[in-house]
Amino acid sequence: NKQKNVRNFSIIAHIDHGKSTLADRILEDTKALTQREMKEQFLDAMDLERERGITIKLNAVQLRYQANDGEDYTFHLIDTPGHVDFTYEVSRSLAACEGALLVVDAAQGIEAQTLANVYLALDNDLEIIPVINKIDLPSADVDRVKQEIEDVIGIDADDAILASAKDGVGIDEILERIVSDIPAPEGDPEEPTKALIFDSLYDPYRGVIAYICVKEGSIKVGDQIKMMQTEKTFEVTELGVFKPNPVAKDELTVGDVGFLTASIKNVGDSRVGDTITLANNPADEPLSGYKRLNPMVYCGLFPVDADDYNDLREALERLELNDSSLQYEPETSQALGFGFRCGFLGLLHMEIIQERIEREFNIELITTAPSVIYEVELTDGDVINIENPSLMPEAKNIKEVREPFVRATVMVPNDFVGPVMEICQKKRGNYVDMQYLDENRVNIVYDIPLSEIVYDFFDQLKSQTKGYASFDYELSGYQPSNLVKMDILLNGETIDALSFIVHRDFAFHRGKQIAEKLKKLIPRQQFEVPVQAAIGNKIIARTTIKAMRKNVLSKCYGGDVSRKRKLLEKQKEGKKRMKMVGKVEIPQEAFMSVLEMD
Ligand code: GTP
Repeated sequence: NKQKNVRNFSIIAHIDHGKSTLADRILEDTKALTQREMKEQFLDAMDLERERGITIKLNAVQLRYQANDGEDYTFHLIDTPGHVDFTYEVSRSLAACEGALLVVDAAQGIEAQTLANVYLALDNDLEIIPVINKIDLPSADVDRVKQEIEDVIGIDADDAILASAKDGVGIDEILERIVSDIPAPEGDPEEPTKALIFDSLYDPYRGVIAYICVKEGSIKVGDQIKMMQTEKTFEVTELGVFKPNPVAKDELTVGDVGFLTASIKNVGDSRVGDTITLANNPADEPLSGYKRLNPMVYCGLFPVDADDYNDLREALERLELNDSSLQYEPETSQALGFGFRCGFLGLLHMEIIQERIEREFNIELITTAPSVIYEVELTDGDVINIENPSLMPEAKNIKEVREPFVRATVMVPNDFVGPVMEICQKKRGNYVDMQYLDENRVNIVYDIPLSEIVYDFFDQLKSQTKGYASFDYELSGYQPSNLVKMDILLNGETIDALSFIVHRDFAFHRGKQIAEKLKKLIPRQQFEVPVQAAIGNKIIARTTIKAMRKNVLSKCYGGDVSRKRKLLEKQKEGKKRMKMVGKVEIPQEAFMSVLEMD
């Protein structure tokens, strides 16, 4: 097929605005798949993905379309993950495209996360085709949404496509507009090769499968390729495209979007955003926009059963093969024993990894509360990074503690401006800006410490705005803060895994709250357990878990065996996520208790 008849595009949409439904329609209309096949194959390789209704891994599908002008076109539909944790992957998948469909729910209007992705698309010079979806809904307000698209994004929405992915309305128009509005890829097949890696995943048999888009030149099976960032070289064993089933090819050339394998043993060797070139005829410069991803959030992962430590290490090794942004290193906790300190792109990333370890590898985990990376300037002038609260140096050795801030954008209906600003203030936010998008909606911008976002910011936002707020953030840099380490003592012993960093102004209140919370969470033991919160040597809060009164079994009168067994089983169930720390049994929830504060 000719390069001028290639169209590479993705779909930008907020969760639930209908991206998957629309993608399914497009596949159906171009006869790529039957509906049943679609369910099984398209856009979600992992169960977890389907269950959570989010797209974690990008995908690229090749489609054939015969347009009204009588010509045959090749489309590549490139999928993008929708969550803020994966912004960089979104930006790389958009870099593989020349255009994007912007899908906006006709009843909901634009959301903060959509906006962020539209800006990424504009940064990548993509042609944007607005699609107003769900026009079948009685609450659809097409004029308002058009106005919003113009006001907020600044693109002409006069010729926005009115669609109902559910009823199949507007799909033909979308396909025609992809042909007429989105430019063909521009590269030169004769130039030295540049192919963008926009995703990769690990396959136990073939090694890394890199998803690539060829921007200049071409690649053939057997070619020696070089990764321009990592400078590693490999021999290409397989090339192909997804239709959406993988179909092998001998060569990929400018405009092609597909996959490459080359016996690459580690996804770290084929990083998202890197440029592939040929070893014997390399390009001078890589494609722009490569960025190494650094974790933003850390937590400790410990096996409930110490015997699972090696299995946990293996699980992390396996997951790392598939996920170059996952980081981990061994950690020893006095309280929890041997485990790993792991770094993640964000909270969702963290949850996904934890869940996969538990489900796919069957390891029960104790997770400690997530922490951000603090920059600590010591009195001797050294600057160190602290990602584990329990390792915070003593106050007397610290000159200044700096913490990461994010610029948070919250989009809400007017009525909720008050509550949103209140939450942002309470979370130590600094007001930056407020824009009225139309008579109904406002964009509120605050600089907020990342650690406050890690706590329950999003949950509070949702509950205070009846779910109407949408939210996006990006790291904006480090700022000095008056932070202290809080230790928690149980039965007189400091439990390192419960230590956390808190702003001095909130320390007293949080300490009290946590002591109370632990008192509720930790079951009564055979003896009385004092719970204390301390800063340095100073105890700032204290409470006591009373001793257990009776053994559970003593409740069983007579010899009712089945009842007795039930009770024992129930007890065992309850014990599942308990960890013996010193003489005290602590449940998993206790380690996360810092997270759920008001
Ligand atoms: P994620 O996969 O979570 O990112 O969501 P998505 O944006 O892919 O949305 P999805 O296609 O899953 O659609 C979300 C919901 O909206 C589903 O319940 C769809 O059935 C529904 N939906 C999609 N398109 C339409 C439409 O045109 N009209 C109506 N009424 N509902 C629609």
